[in-house]
Amino acid sequence: MSTQPPAPPPSPQRGGPSDDVPVLAAVDLRKHFPVRGFRSQQVVHAVDDVNLELHRGRVVALVGESGSGKSTIARLLAQLMPATGGQILLHGEDARVKNRRGFRRYVRRVQMIFQDPFGSLNPIHTIRYTLTRSVKIHQGNLRGKELEAALTQLLERVQLTPPSRYIDKFPHELSGGQRQRVAIARALAADPEVLLADEPISMLDVSIRLGILNLLRDLRDRLQIAILYITHDIASARYFADRTMVMYAGRVVETGDSESVTQDPKHPYTQLLVRSAPDPDDLDARARGARGEAPSLVRPPTGCRFNPRCPFANELCRTEVPPLLAVGEGREAACWGYADRGDRPELGELLDVYGDRPAVDVSVIEALDATVPGPRKGDDR
Ligand SMILES: Nc1ncnc2c1ncn2[C@@H]1O[C@H](COP(=O)(O)OP(=O)(O)O)[C@@H](O)[C@H]1O
Ligand code: SF4
Ligand SMILES: [Mg+2]
Repeated sequence: MSTQPPAPPPSPQRGGPSDDVPVLAAVDLRKHFPVRGFRSQQVVHAVDDVNLELHRGRVVALVGESGSGKSTIARLLAQLMPATGGQILLHGEDARVKNRRGFRRYVRRVQMIFQDPFGSLNPIHTIRYTLTRSVKIHQGNLRGKELEAALTQLLERVQLTPPSRYIDKFPHELSGGQRQRVAIARALAADPEVLLADEPISMLDVSIRLGILNLLRDLRDRLQIAILYITHDIASARYFADRTMVMYAGRVVETGDSESVTQDPKHPYTQLLVRSAPDPDDLDARARGARGEAPSLVRPPTGCRFNPRCPFANELCRTEVPPLLAVGEGREAACWGYADRGDRPELGELLDVYGDRPAVDVSVIEALDATVPGPRKGDDR
């Protein structure tokens, strides 16, 4: 199998001063969930000190094992729940919503797509009903031909063509991929600047995943939408995202352009993740077998949260939280091994520790790419 697939196609060049200011940014974002129980003072450290930026026409992937805090970040950015600390900035300004009206204004600009297209569409309503409701909420009280044109445009934008074939169907009459396209169309009715896509393909049949990623890529390029793509599959991040952020136990441990992060990972955890792609369960089993359980987020390990599983951990790792350190152009890793200090741990060759596995391989995605020749009219993707 090839391990040298081509780099993901670059996003189109864009100019203008507004590109420098992220559309949406998180600054030192934090979420601690109280643990239920009589007089419990304990909290789950779901997200700690996360910084991220989403830019127009760019995709950022958030990658990590189950329970690492990815969905919590998406829900915080969508303002579906309050943060424990930190800030959310929309075009550089504090975007915290204070009331229902503010929230309605915010969701017009920041829309979320959920993992489960079966659960996110109401089964008792037709696609026409679902999309009409969204159009009326976000575009005003359109009627007659205007409304029909808006619905047609939405279905065409998500490549459900001809629209007449889908518009009067119920969700159960559509495939998983078609349902996810309807969910995306519903989000587009708001004409958003940001899409937060929480594992949008993980519940879909492997054969239709690529179609959805290509659709999102098309929206990125044509509508210049900023996309947060959440996944536990680092290979799909390499295929689809401009930048990749790796999370471990509620913290960001590595960031950089997707190609470098996946082909030359710096953080020992990212190296483990890459070696286990595309099956995170495999990672779990291998890491547990070799290096103990994933940490409790109620009492997370002191210092670097990865230290109980890291073969290179030393005293510094166990006592102080590593900051994100520069490890190359536009790249950062939160690992003491890259610090300029005498007591840093010595990073060895991971191959010796985790065994010989190929680096992240997108050949499966490539193979699918070859069999999915872009949009076809009325097919069952
Ligand atoms: N509403 C909640 N109450 C308590 N703990 C939660 C809640 N939502 C998520 N968590 C915990 O926060 C951590 C991160 O969860 P989540 O963001 O869903 O991770 P991921 O999406 O990466 O799988 C997990 O330990 C999870 O159990
Ligand atoms: S070497 Fe230390 S800081 Fe780096 S990942 Fe391992 S435990 Fe964390
Ligand atoms: Mg999740």
